[in-house]
Amino acid sequence: MSDSKLWLQEKDDREAFYASVKKYYDTSSPTVDTTLGGLTHLAKPDVMFSCSLIKELIDSDAISKTHLKRALDVGAGEGRVSENVLSLYFDEIDLVEPNESLVKASVTKSPHVRIKKRIISSIEKYIPTVKYGVVWAQWVFSHILDRELSVILKNIHGYLEPNGLLVIKDNFIEDSYSAGKGIVPDDDAYPVLCDDIGLVIRTMSDMVLLLQEFGFKVHIFRRDEGVMAAEKGIFPVYAIVAKRI
Ligand SMILES: C[S@@+](CC[C@H](N)C(=O)[O-])C[C@H]1O[C@@H](n2cnc3c(N)ncnc32)[C@H](O)[C@@H]1O
Repeated sequence: MSDSKLWLQEKDDREAFYASVKKYYDTSSPTVDTTLGGLTHLAKPDVMFSCSLIKELIDSDAISKTHLKRALDVGAGEGRVSENVLSLYFDEIDLVEPNESLVKASVTKSPHVRIKKRIISSIEKYIPTVKYGVVWAQWVFSHILDRELSVILKNIHGYLEPNGLLVIKDNFIEDSYSAGKGIVPDDDAYPVLCDDIGLVIRTMSDMVLLLQEFGFKVHIFRRDEGVMAAEKGIFPVYAIVAKRI
């Protein structure tokens, strides 16, 4: 069991963690500045990286024509990723976001015609009737503890197309896995919990182990050097592309 799985076993502590997440979004204005934690200048390099990643996946046939039919944007905020990244490639995009103000803001801030459904829900409660070729979860799994994330990964596995991709873009702690040495015990790399703001920064190995547990295989992972150059001192930003197996 990873360290992060040992955290917040008590119901009260877990509820306090999720209350912190909710409080942050409920008491902030529904803007990109809020969803990027005040680091709006990261939006441009982030979008450039994500577009080049999707192009790489299409060029290598990891994303097939079938997969391009429908994507899901998880924890979409006011639709920044749907509007600037996913709508360039996918025929239809659904976005899921629990904060009603952000969903409302998305209608004007992210009006792309390819964004079909704007669902006000947390991802753990979302059970779609359609399948998605790609599920994109950006800067959202760090708001979710392992116990709930396990349920979410199991659900996503169920509504991804065969060989569909789950892309997790988030801050991670670098370790043996990101160094290309696989998953080996690494005393210098441990997850970081900021329970006052409801954030868990996982090690790359912990994230990969969870993915493996729920039927995913890491296809590729990439470090977003553009974002890292634009803001020094943040936890490293990676995209982990996991294939449904
Ligand atoms: C840091 S923002 C990132 C927004 C967007 N993905 C982006 O990159 O611009 C995190 C978003 O995840 C949402 N969120 C938090 N917990 C969630 C959950 N359990 N299910 C779905 N979304 C959640 C928040 O309301 C917020 O809009």
